[in-house]
Amino acid sequence: MLRDALAVAVEALSWMAYEGIGERAALLRASQQLNITSPSDLREAHKWVMETSRFQNRLDWFVMQVVPEELIKNASHGIRSLLRILAYLRFIDSKPASVLQRIVGVSRQTIGWRELRPYEESIARLVSSNPNSYVGHTPEFERVSLETCHPIWYVKRLIVTFGRPLALTILKRDLSTVATFARVNELKRENQTSFDEQLHSSQVKVVENVYALDKGGRADARAKLASSGEIVIQDLGSIVAGLVAAPGPGQVVLDVCASPGNKTSHLAAQMGNDGEIYSLEISASRSLQWKREMIRTGCRIATLIMADATKLPIRIQADVVLVDPPCSNSGVFARDPTSKWRLTPTRLKELVRAQGEILQEASEQLNEGGTLVYCTCSILPEENELVVETFLKKNPEYTLTQQRPFLGCPGLRGLSDCQRFFPHLHNCNGYFIAKMRKQ
Ligand SMILES: C[S@@+](CC[C@H](N)C(=O)[O-])C[C@H]1O[C@@H](n2cnc3c(N)ncnc32)[C@H](O)[C@@H]1O
Repeated sequence: MLRDALAVAVEALSWMAYEGIGERAALLRASQQLNITSPSDLREAHKWVMETSRFQNRLDWFVMQVVPEELIKNASHGIRSLLRILAYLRFIDSKPASVLQRIVGVSRQTIGWRELRPYEESIARLVSSNPNSYVGHTPEFERVSLETCHPIWYVKRLIVTFGRPLALTILKRDLSTVATFARVNELKRENQTSFDEQLHSSQVKVVENVYALDKGGRADARAKLASSGEIVIQDLGSIVAGLVAAPGPGQVVLDVCASPGNKTSHLAAQMGNDGEIYSLEISASRSLQWKREMIRTGCRIATLIMADATKLPIRIQADVVLVDPPCSNSGVFARDPTSKWRLTPTRLKELVRAQGEILQEASEQLNEGGTLVYCTCSILPEENELVVETFLKKNPEYTLTQQRPFLGCPGLRGLSDCQRFFPHLHNCNGYFIAKMRKQ
């Protein structure tokens, strides 16, 4: 029902604004709080939350054209969320006036007519007006920010980094989502003919055991296979990072920053569940997620160590070290638009510092001749090539080596053995992989 979907979306957006939590946690909390379980309502609410987040600054701009500043200042999170949803439906989704009128009617029930009353006039203007163009007299960076829906500082950063034409292409690509990928989980293969039987013919094979999933139909079959662990929904770059690390049976692997565990189970699959994986994760809640994932995917050789990877509490001699540190998520803005509004220049600086420290600390556990893989879902060179360059300068016993498979494009700054993925080129998350060998 429209009313339930709207109530969940408004509540979830309000939690996100109020507590700064991600959309998944906010939707879960809102649906539990309102006791709404219908899959179609939750799907609709999810879409509204994601799309209003994707276009957030542009929607706010539209709202500001019709709602007096004073009213916006005093508006509750619920009202602000409703205004954004209406602006999305009106100006981005081009819904007819009749649909908007119905939503306004429903919002009188969900938000309460008393709270809504001071805004009724502005809402009537919002649902019936034609938008002014923001192109006119808006300064350059602000205009690009509104056009591509990214924070102004990030727009500037990308233009400086990639040059204007490429930066605009990258920024614009974040306005629509990217493909979904899955790998067949070989740890569950003995039980499984189901992927081949149920889904194989409708999927596009990327490399052995890796598929781009089509959007239409088969969603139920796919969800069933994912929940039984027979397939793992994982983005392309992340899968390729696991393949590039390529641990063999019997080896010792250090898996740094491990949760939710997609790479852990992939490493175990390549090892045939034979050898040892030490997985490091700092977060207690994400550690629980990792444990569930290991059960689901049938991984039996990984041990979780809950610790800060900048100060490793263990000393091991690993054959392979995989470092997947926290990052800006700038490669994931198309899939997860809420994260672009959480990133700040200060946060980015902290991340870069942690990435260098984690890489250095992890590398000290690697055997001579061993493989070190560093990867992020960021497109920013400061989190990628620059971290690797600094590391190589400090640790001359390491050299970059060729990667297999190589499905992306070469790294920047002449690091052609590194591999990058971009949403606009590869229809997957932006991703970076460096593979190094210790002499
Ligand atoms: C990019 S995610 C890892 C994804 C994971 N490797 C996978 O493929 O499923 C980064 C993880 O690092 C964890 N993390 C952040 N800072 C950390 C630290 N200092 N030490 C250990 N883990 C950390 C986060 O909690 C998060 O789970």
